[in-house]
Amino acid sequence: MAETKRLRVGIIGCGAGVFHLEGYAEEPRAQVVALAGLDTDRCQDLAKRFEIPRVYGDYRELLEQDDIDAVSVVVPNNLHLPVTLAALEAGKHVIVEKPLARNADEGERMVRAAEAHGKVLAVAFQRRHRHDVQIVRRIVANGELGDIYYAKAFWMRRSGIPDLGSWFTSKEAAGGGPLIDLGVHVLDMALHMTGNPTVTAVSAVTYAQLGPQGKGNWPGGRRRSANAGARYEVEDLAVALLRMENGATLHLEASWAVYTGMTDEFGVQLFGSKGGARIHSKDYAQVGTLELYGDVGDTAIDGRPRLQQRLGHGGIVRDFVDAILNGTPVTPSGAEGLDRVRLIDAIYQSAELGREIGIEQEAVVG
Ligand SMILES: NC(=O)c1ccc[n+]([C@@H]2O[C@H](COP(=O)([O-])OP(=O)(O)OC[C@H]3O[C@@H](n4cnc5c(N)ncnc54)[C@H](O)[C@@H]3O)[C@@H](O)[C@H]2O)c1
Repeated sequence: MAETKRLRVGIIGCGAGVFHLEGYAEEPRAQVVALAGLDTDRCQDLAKRFEIPRVYGDYRELLEQDDIDAVSVVVPNNLHLPVTLAALEAGKHVIVEKPLARNADEGERMVRAAEAHGKVLAVAFQRRHRHDVQIVRRIVANGELGDIYYAKAFWMRRSGIPDLGSWFTSKEAAGGGPLIDLGVHVLDMALHMTGNPTVTAVSAVTYAQLGPQGKGNWPGGRRRSANAGARYEVEDLAVALLRMENGATLHLEASWAVYTGMTDEFGVQLFGSKGGARIHSKDYAQVGTLELYGDVGDTAIDGRPRLQQRLGHGGIVRDFVDAILNGTPVTPSGAEGLDRVRLIDAIYQSAELGREIGIEQEAVVG
């Protein structure tokens, strides 16, 4: 059998870039040939661990390499737009980390540029590949829970500001706080599991209570220790109610730091007319996280499906490579990433104005 050419890939960003390296390590149709990052030590460590031959500093050097077909953009949120536009311009297909962009204006430019250049643009909502999420999505699509009329999605940390004083806590660099960082994941999970209902309005409130006091940094500090004088310009708790065209509502909560018994926990709960489902993951657990609620005859039944561990970015990479090689529609697409960013924009706007915001948006397929 003739050997087909493997796609050649570059990873830009050496923090969460490791998840992309792990994803590509599972994909025989592609190989990572280069990394780029300004933090040379972290990049060199990754290059050694994953046997990547080339390491660049600035991302532009990597994009100049003609033998690279695709890149992952895993840089601070304010760089998603310029790096993605430059990559598409250089003829590369792109996976962007979540959130797609800091706001919908930036996201639209990215989606339009991918269309104009005829390249694949994917966004890394890797939690869609969790086994519990896939089970719930399937049973909802089969109508087994009836009509979903209420849902709750949350991601709450007791003390989990990623890096107090870094780009994460700068409004300019990150575009927002835990809502755009964590909330976007569970918002995507909830909408994806319920077949992407159209959101018509949002009402939201945000708070910044612990961060400005220098409290709530990740235990021991992820990279630095907490500092009461550190810049903290974003919310540390966001709460929103989203109304759907079909009458359903979604309650969303996202926090990096709040006084709670939870450590680092996220989940989605669906309430349907024939049954319910609850995903609750503590410290990123993937098994023992799903409960299903229904009836057998007139008896209420709670079930706990057996679950498998999955590598989320492995699924993202597989679908991306399929889209490039076989022309299958990519999922999650840039358009879906844009839809989520539009909702995030509306949530921040509602919180700022102190009232409900109506949403006009195009339907997304996912
Ligand atoms: N999907 C997930 O679960 C997940 C998890 C963590 C982070 N993320 C996302 O990944 C992105 C990066 O987050 P992080 O935690 O890795 O941040 P980080 O600060 O740890 O790393 C950012 C990386 O970008 C690099 N970078 C910055 N400017 C650059 C330039 N001009 N050229 C080349 N490299 C440059 C830095 O050198 C660094 O390697 C964010 O968008 C974040 O939301 C996603």
